[in-house]
Amino acid sequence: MAGSKSKAPFRIGVLLSGRGSNFLAIAKSIREGRLSGVEIAIVLSNVADAPGISAARDLNLPTAVYVSKGRPRAEHDADLIGSLREHKIDLVCLAGYMRLLSPGFISAFPNRILNIHPSLLPAFPGLDAQQQAFDYGVKVAGCTVHFVDEHLDHGAIILQRAIPVLETDDAHSLADRILAEEHIAYSEAIARVASGDYEMRGRRYVKRQRFDTGN
Ligand code: GAR
Repeated sequence: MAGSKSKAPFRIGVLLSGRGSNFLAIAKSIREGRLSGVEIAIVLSNVADAPGISAARDLNLPTAVYVSKGRPRAEHDADLIGSLREHKIDLVCLAGYMRLLSPGFISAFPNRILNIHPSLLPAFPGLDAQQQAFDYGVKVAGCTVHFVDEHLDHGAIILQRAIPVLETDDAHSLADRILAEEHIAYSEAIARVASGDYEMRGRRYVKRQRFDTGN
């Protein structure tokens, strides 16, 4: 219709290294209309045979693989930056991307990189977070979606989802139940960031209040 403008899609670039279940949960949210206005512009993997990248191909999404093994981090990340820019992404979503990002990558997308981590940060950063939490004996576990900064699993938190640790749990059952929460949390966090309806107060993500002026 003349004069009507549809809003440009909010384009995300997904980076993964493995099975890609968080990526698939995001793709499902988009397909089922729970992430309206968001589209996956590119899926990148640093591992050639990552199941997540085959799944992305099966969904006919644009994909690219840049094998990182044996390459200097900055050089590899420059390829990723080039691809993400070429695909005009608004937000980078790390979804099981198991390689540290270079400072150059982080400064290329300021406050525009999200990560999901399977613990209630700042507890249990790093690898095998679910096993760390189980071994520590915590009674509440969960996942965190946060902005990425130059420190490992450290940036400002967008949201967390918590679950009780059951007497009957082992580290695997706990990880499975955390993963189910991750699949809800990541789409919710992307929707929050895509809305732009928030402000950062120091490390604190705060949703903007809407006041009805009556006008
Ligand atoms: C997820 O549990 C994610 O939270 C974790 O890797 C897994 C990837 O699974 N990420 C980290 O530990 C990052 N520090 P997926 O490939 O099925 O999404």
